[in-house]
Amino acid sequence: MQRRRRSRHRTFHAGVVCEMTTEETIALAGKVLTPNYRRQPVAFVEGQGMRLWDAEGKEYLDFVAGIAVDVLGHCHPAHVRAIQQQAARLIHVSNIFQIPQQAELGRDLVEVTGIPEGKVFFCNSGAEANEAAVKMARKAARTVRGRDAFEIIVADHSFHGRTMGALSATMVPKYHEGFEPLVPGFVSVPFNDPAAVERAITPRTAAVLIEPVQGEGGIHCADDAYLQGLRRLCDEQGIWLILDEVQTGFGRTGRWFAYQYAGITPDIVSLAKGMGGGVPIGAIVARDEPASVFVPGSHGSTFAGSPLICAAARAAVAAIREEELVERADEMGTYLMHRLRDLAKSHAVITEVRGRGLMVAIELSVPSEQVVAASLERGLLVNNVQPHAVRFVPPLIVSRQDIDEAMSILDAALTAVRAEAGRATAGR
Ligand SMILES: Cc1ncc(COP(=O)(O)O)c(C=O)c1O
Repeated sequence: MQRRRRSRHRTFHAGVVCEMTTEETIALAGKVLTPNYRRQPVAFVEGQGMRLWDAEGKEYLDFVAGIAVDVLGHCHPAHVRAIQQQAARLIHVSNIFQIPQQAELGRDLVEVTGIPEGKVFFCNSGAEANEAAVKMARKAARTVRGRDAFEIIVADHSFHGRTMGALSATMVPKYHEGFEPLVPGFVSVPFNDPAAVERAITPRTAAVLIEPVQGEGGIHCADDAYLQGLRRLCDEQGIWLILDEVQTGFGRTGRWFAYQYAGITPDIVSLAKGMGGGVPIGAIVARDEPASVFVPGSHGSTFAGSPLICAAARAAVAAIREEELVERADEMGTYLMHRLRDLAKSHAVITEVRGRGLMVAIELSVPSEQVVAASLERGLLVNNVQPHAVRFVPPLIVSRQDIDEAMSILDAALTAVRAEAGRATAGR
């Protein structure tokens, strides 16, 4: 299963020699990097399509995709070409000047989101997109709607990012520990329960902020009726509906955006991850009304929307369109879930298969990190999104053959985990 490349790691990257072994990287990182990530003991040095190679030349099948980022797989030729050509021409100027690539990408985003008279604000990450959305919603509640409203209703187990505002909207207490006081004004209610949102609305409510599929929470899908109910409620009460499509956007769930399943559009949508095909970019697309409060001086970002990053994102969006990757995510997601349900018949430790499109998780009766480690050892990358849930978010270019290969590795990994558990019990 693990094909090896003949010592290629020594001359990777167009002649730039990659000298460090994985062990050397681990040792150096341990000395100089903050220890805020629980990193797997592997250092990748090259990627192509669905595959990655580590510093020792071992091959891996990638069902993590940089956590739902690498929608085109690794080093897609059109994406690489766009980056190379733009880098050779102009990399960064500033938002105090006009940037043609930014305006063109803005037009693409308005088109694919379907937000009427949409206006785009660019930033550099998902957290920043949510910061922008919250700032816009608060100011627009006051300026456009004439109400001194600032509260944002969010959902239990939500994840919106790590900056102070986005963190305050994130309802996972362990992420808050030590960082208090949080930004005030975020109110949490149970997910997928429109009546709970209705009860939480007060004259101070400015917006509702929801993930259509809770990603970091473990892949939990909002019902279409829930999103439709939120849209109705927000319209009736004059409240902005913000949808966080940072993880779900750009085809991941089998639609360009997950809200399209419910046939609604939000007032503001936050975007990142898949949009850049791997380069750091975030954005919000907002209806004209709330967007009107972002006047000169009200908000901004030095690096946002540079020629280089926008050229890369335009190439990614174009490839998603031209290669019909949204439709592919729908089809391959159905196949992946079908194969996982099959696997569950022979592995009782899989207690649930859930998801939409290529945003899928299995719930396990064993710790997910054991399954992730056993898969990694056998050349498959998956991620433990929760202590008992493994997430599958492969590039949207994934094929049936890739899924079949992943399932046979996972089958072996689950068998090994079960055997290990059996040995541990016998040894007690
Ligand atoms: C739904 C959602 N919102 C926001 C974020 C934060 O994005 P970033 O890590 O780019 O700041 C994430 C990241 O996982 C996410 O899944």
